[in-house]
Amino acid sequence: MRTKFQPTPAPLDTATHARRSRVTARPLMGEDPALRAAYRLCRRTTRLHDPGIYALIQLMPAVLRPPCWALWTAASILDDLADQQDVEQAERVARIQAWTQALRRDLAAGTSTDPVRHALVDTALRWHLDLSSLQGAVARTVDDVRDRRFVDWPEWRAWCEALVPWVDQVRHLFEQAGAPMTLRLDRQQDYKRFIDGAQLTDLLTDLSADLAQGLLLLPQEALDAFPGAEDDLRQGRWSPAAAALIGELTALARRWVTRPVMTRGMHPGAATVLNTAACLMRAQLDAVDAAGPALLKRAQRPSVVARTRVLAPARLRSALAWSLTPLTVPTPRPPAADTSDPGPAADGTGFRPPPSHPDAIRAPQLAADQMPSHVAVIMDGNGRWAEQRGLPRHEGHRAGIAAVYEMVYGALEIGLRHLTVYMFSTENWKRDTEEITTILEATQRELDEGPLRDMNVRQRWSGRPDRLPEDLVHSLRREEHRTRTRTGLTLTTCINYGGRDEITRTAAALAQAAREGEVDPHLLGEDDFARHLPHPDMPDVDLLWRTGNEQRTSNFLPWHAAYAELYFTPGYWPDNDRSDLWQAITEYSRRQRRHGAVPTPLPSPENHHSPPHIQPDPRHRAR
Ligand code: IPE
Ligand code: IPE
Ligand code: MG
Repeated sequence: MRTKFQPTPAPLDTATHARRSRVTARPLMGEDPALRAAYRLCRRTTRLHDPGIYALIQLMPAVLRPPCWALWTAASILDDLADQQDVEQAERVARIQAWTQALRRDLAAGTSTDPVRHALVDTALRWHLDLSSLQGAVARTVDDVRDRRFVDWPEWRAWCEALVPWVDQVRHLFEQAGAPMTLRLDRQQDYKRFIDGAQLTDLLTDLSADLAQGLLLLPQEALDAFPGAEDDLRQGRWSPAAAALIGELTALARRWVTRPVMTRGMHPGAATVLNTAACLMRAQLDAVDAAGPALLKRAQRPSVVARTRVLAPARLRSALAWSLTPLTVPTPRPPAADTSDPGPAADGTGFRPPPSHPDAIRAPQLAADQMPSHVAVIMDGNGRWAEQRGLPRHEGHRAGIAAVYEMVYGALEIGLRHLTVYMFSTENWKRDTEEITTILEATQRELDEGPLRDMNVRQRWSGRPDRLPEDLVHSLRREEHRTRTRTGLTLTTCINYGGRDEITRTAAALAQAAREGEVDPHLLGEDDFARHLPHPDMPDVDLLWRTGNEQRTSNFLPWHAAYAELYFTPGYWPDNDRSDLWQAITEYSRRQRRHGAVPTPLPSPENHHSPPHIQPDPRHRAR
């Protein structure tokens, strides 16, 4: 159930605006005086520590400001704990862990004696935020940055991604309030670049403070392009090389944050927040550009005039946009509902083990070098399974879901690292609506209530969001975030997936990177392509298994399965269970993989039944 929130009329001047937001935000900060004080503390902290962020939050509707202050303050507390230079690394890690463990307890209790956690817990319950998705971001906070080195931009970017879960929490707030910051799939890449641009802008702003601590958190490939610049910067010398490097980096950050297409079609209020963030970052970069040697002495900020020039029209625009939008506030969730996921950080054993096979069949024991890393399955034959029984086709899909669970249990038991399942292809839209609805609804139910939720399974989704129901996309993304730090099996579900579509999108991402000067088209290699895939860390498929007596790959994983061992079985998908997966893996273990090489037979006569030894090709590595 949701209650309507009546938007405030457009503010005419700053003083009126401040008064109005106090009046309207009050009930939204709760009636409990301690809670209101907690939110006020978060507001003060945000305003003092980061006036730019504070100004952006002021562009949001009053109802969304308190949760944003709470989120920002929590993030900055964790950052400060990580940054305490006078404290040993082990002690810093212990302090961060103590804070996050206390948060977990507070979430279960629904309140906290610590004001910032009090506000954060209230925010999480009120707005149905799943804070477990922040685990990855927190894990990076405990990373010791002193020895951090990045070879290239992709490595740097992977490190920067820790910011994304925090920004996603804010996007979730907008969504809950009914004004989603929805990004079309073809804008995802722009969004990622925008986040990179924000990180690079921050880094350039804080350069003097970082250098004072001996830190230069830039990729080696960027530093090497300007010989001597790294040493000069580290020694506080504003040389021509250092100036050229900084000039190049500010230009790059400016390009990354300038993404006008990203907000096209978005709610105008949400779009104003993002576009203003971009304008403020460009003003910040102008200040960095103008600073020259002063950049190495202290952080540079844009002038009040430059900020006002950006913020004044943005305030009017956002006030108008929000005044036209009736927002909703969800009914708060009771405590503990959010803590069902103990997470690996809880004690490392908090996950439910898979139930045993009904006939107590056990997984075979295979040597590690005979195990595939990645098995991909085309689960075919649901329709024929149902027809064979005189049932409607959709009954076949229901039965098929049970077989998916079986495969996941089997994968966990045998210790498989990656399992990828083909659930719905971009071609399957040709089927009738009822059948499509059953498949998608069954998937949604699995994500929301299924038995895999509490197992050590990192769930991922591969495919396009367009045409899929919004709720399903939301559940897929939510589970991706919620389970992102799990270490057991990576289960990738391909829904609205097409291999050619994946390759086309990757080519588009590469073309964009080339346009931005990040890759040279003449030097493009396979690894560059792989790095621009939607899931760059997905390893090559070792074994591709199709059930249902068909011998084709139907547009499934053409890049990853280029050298996969193929395995086709006649039975319909719902008739398979985990022992069939083990059978497939056992068959794989007997195959001889060559990758184009000539096998060198092993010398020992006892080994003549084993496949001859092949040196692995480094290109077929597990990413
Ligand atoms: C595979 O089963 C599942 C999906 C394609 C969603 P099918 O529905 O293709 O079953 P058959 O091939 O018609 O028997
Ligand atoms: C492939 O099966 C897609 C999935 C299993 C999701 P299809 O049944 O759709 O493939 P074709 O049509 O037989 O090639
Ligand atoms: Mg089929």
